[in-house]
Amino acid sequence: MKTVDELSPVITEENINRRVAEIGSAITREYQDKDLVIIGILKGAFIFMADLVRKIDLPIEVDFVRLQSYGSGMESSGQVTITKDVELSLKDKHVLIVEDIVDTGYTLKYLKEVLSLHETASVKICCLIDKKERRKVDIEVEYVGFEIEKGFLVGYGLDYDEQYRQLPGIFHLTPRYEAKGFVPSER
Ligand code: IMP
Ligand code: MG
Repeated sequence: MKTVDELSPVITEENINRRVAEIGSAITREYQDKDLVIIGILKGAFIFMADLVRKIDLPIEVDFVRLQSYGSGMESSGQVTITKDVELSLKDKHVLIVEDIVDTGYTLKYLKEVLSLHETASVKICCLIDKKERRKVDIEVEYVGFEIEKGFLVGYGLDYDEQYRQLPGIFHLTPRYEAKGFVPSER
């Protein structure tokens, strides 16, 4: 069955750019004279990460991890595994995790605990979108781009079934299942 997804704008490209620049400045102020490693979570954070690091006016190191969380298509479960680990040494470094969305919190709680085992100087979190109301585990997020109450979002790195990551803004997605033989109207 073919899906006809409905997208409605939530955050424009301009608003994202402005907010990312603000967060970059705040990070630049906080990490003066500190060894900072920025760790992006693949794949969702790749665009946010790319924009954010260019707004940080400090010498930094960059790395990525890839995580897999088992669960249904639209919600993660408590079970998270690392499928691509960090490659840089994190010992005595200040680590900033960059994530697209904090939803239940399971993913970041797990990653923060794992990274803390590397004898880091600190581990903090920066996320583009915080769905605070849906939190299931307590986790502190130091830098938040936008707080969004609910709904499933795509664009600017965020996907639904690997689609829509390349959209420059953020959209709310409502999947619509096209009935057999149904032809969507041009209007
Ligand atoms: P959680 O905080 O462990 O529940 O999971 C957060 C992860 O779920 C994020 O890294 C996203 O990949 C994914 N996720 C949660 N909400 C959305 C959404 O609205 N759109 C796309 N991905 C989402
Ligand atoms: Mg993700």
